[in-house]
Amino acid sequence: MSAQSVNLNVQREGTPMSTLTLMTRLREATRESHDQLETLPYFQALERGELPIESYVGQLRAMAVLHGVLEHELPKAGDERMNAVWRENLRRFPQIQTDLGFFASKAVLDIATAHEAACALADPILQRSVEQPVSLLGYLYVLEGSIGGAQVLAPRFRQVFGLDERHGLAYLSWEPTVAQERWRAFGERMNAAPVDAAESADIIAAAEEAFAGIQGLFAALYPFETAQLTRKATSLNPEAGAHPVPEDPGEIDAAIRAGERCWQEYPYFAWRYGERGWRYTQSDGAWLITLTTQDQAVMDAQVAWLSGVLGARGMPSRLLQRHLELLYEELIGRMPESGERRYGRLLAAADRLAEQRRAVIADADLDMISRQFDQAAGPDWRARLPCMGALLVCAVADQAHGIKQAVASFQSWLVDPQRFPPHWIAAVHEALREAEARRRA
Ligand code: HEM
Repeated sequence: MSAQSVNLNVQREGTPMSTLTLMTRLREATRESHDQLETLPYFQALERGELPIESYVGQLRAMAVLHGVLEHELPKAGDERMNAVWRENLRRFPQIQTDLGFFASKAVLDIATAHEAACALADPILQRSVEQPVSLLGYLYVLEGSIGGAQVLAPRFRQVFGLDERHGLAYLSWEPTVAQERWRAFGERMNAAPVDAAESADIIAAAEEAFAGIQGLFAALYPFETAQLTRKATSLNPEAGAHPVPEDPGEIDAAIRAGERCWQEYPYFAWRYGERGWRYTQSDGAWLITLTTQDQAVMDAQVAWLSGVLGARGMPSRLLQRHLELLYEELIGRMPESGERRYGRLLAAADRLAEQRRAVIADADLDMISRQFDQAAGPDWRARLPCMGALLVCAVADQAHGIKQAVASFQSWLVDPQRFPPHWIAAVHEALREAEARRRA
């Protein structure tokens, strides 16, 4: 009889379903799935001390997708019941990121089938966040409940892999009294959530769906064929989904280094997009390198697509242009032999973005507006956020090329009086006016 089923018997006898609390109904509905989970080869191999590190890191990467997407979607659903249950301290993605940071330099490969199982976990969450947002409480129940199991499993992982809460085991490490109080308070808020019968049925269905997805994941994590080992974007960015990244560790290093240099040149990235933005820079950079095996037309089409996506989120094309140039430099520096013909495609794509901008606003006008902006912003702000004048000009050119939100998505952040002084905001408006006035197309 598993740990979980013990408690259940107390509840069931002679108690009509409708009067059972939501938490009890969730426990009852998922008990079998939980029992099956515990019998999976993954946990048996852990017990025997034979679980490979790829299985454990694969679990972390998969849980990063699950927590990453759920903790992004749930708080922004705007549903008062969910807001009543959700607390910022329920976030566990940061702990997983800490653990993945510990393994980042250890080049642990991905298990392809487990990666697919992890990405498949994200889809129903995204769908529910649109169609039945309150049902996401079912996913939250499963992930919060898993802390119960973590306390049983953590000592085993500690022993088998020599990990601890500061070295790869932060996600599973819980002080029992903290975990108990957290679970009690969570249960109380869940049971107090005013959901009707149909909604609680949706929440239970979501919890069952989560368990089914997690079972599929653990089944894919162990055992696995070594031929399954590969490198996926999610090892750089859990939210990156299933797009390809290079297998070659040298190219991955080049992607990370080019991203670092681009962020150093444009502190705007860190200011506005933070950790999440950094993860996307790494996974996007790695993806762009995979395009160098295609012909220039494919590269240019994909770069134009990415420029549209980024431009609508406040990243003018000059940022992507610079990222492409730095990728080229880092790759040529590391692998000159396979260089020019293949990696030169990145540089050609960067030149095309610059050409596009030039067709709307000439270099001389860009330089003039950029100097004027820096003058008006003053040395302090210029040092803190360099090159913003040039980016404003590029946003105007991007909009002329059909990226509808290019100016609005960039300007809105730059004119926020909570963040910037009046003279800066005036300089932003002036630079945009000037750029509009000098548009050639
Ligand atoms: C061998 C692996 C596992 C073991 C030994 C285990 C063990 C436990 C234990 C001891 C509890 C606390 C039971 C209680 O307080 O009544 C628990 C609860 C729970 N576990 Fe697991 N667990 C395992 C894997 C998982 C996994 C992988 C998940 C999901 C990601 C999970 C989800 C849950 C949930 C949702 C609960 C709360 C049940 C409730 O009281 O409503 N468990 N588990």
